[in-house]
Amino acid sequence: MSHYSIAIDGPSGAGKSTLAKALAARLGFLYVDTGAIYRTVGLYVARQGADCGKEDEVLPHLPNIALSLTYGEDGLQHMLLNGEDVTGAIRENQVSRWASQVSAIPGVRAFLLEMQRDLARRHSVIMDGRDIGTVVLPQADLKIFLTASVEQRAIRRCKELEEKGQSVPLETVKAEIAQRDYDDSHRAAAPLRQAEDAVVVDTSQLNLEESLEALYTLVKERLQL
Ligand code: DC
Repeated sequence: MSHYSIAIDGPSGAGKSTLAKALAARLGFLYVDTGAIYRTVGLYVARQGADCGKEDEVLPHLPNIALSLTYGEDGLQHMLLNGEDVTGAIRENQVSRWASQVSAIPGVRAFLLEMQRDLARRHSVIMDGRDIGTVVLPQADLKIFLTASVEQRAIRRCKELEEKGQSVPLETVKAEIAQRDYDDSHRAAAPLRQAEDAVVVDTSQLNLEESLEALYTLVKERLQL
């Protein structure tokens, strides 16, 4: 049986995971948050006391990492790192930086590539990340590049952090987002960039409902569901 695949790429804080999750639930597809996978690798490597930005310190740890994704009754993705549920731990603010650093290492990307493709072979998926439409699933049935202004993305991220009891100043979050955008789009290995055949959706002026409707309309136009 063949499956559908939808790739959603874009910078941090554009609403990818919230929207992809909601869209997947509406379509009955599996939602795969690939950022969570990079975060888990970053968390493991940092816990070993290694520098996430140094390839020679990161690569030796990869063989010791067993990653799995499980889906709870709620349909939400849980990340298991050597059997430990790290779903909450990988959302800590500092993990974002570690994830960005390890994701720039080609050996890390190669290590995770097959795992991501395998999920798409076995399920209809909505996969979100940075290189899904360009590298992981170049044959995706629909590619969406989801973006929003740095200002809007920082406001959203601040709210998200506040809800988790972490209060970080807006200016700090804005600077972190701008830095990560730069790092993610300027790295040599699979940089963040829009696939030529991706549809751009800018959510700066759209609320969640409106963004979801825009994506759902696109899916209906493109996929024979
Ligand atoms: O989407 P996120 O913020 O959880 O992603 C964390 C980091 O992982 C981000 O800096 C970029 C990187 N990443 C990547 O390089 N490729 C992906 N497919 C997903 C995330």
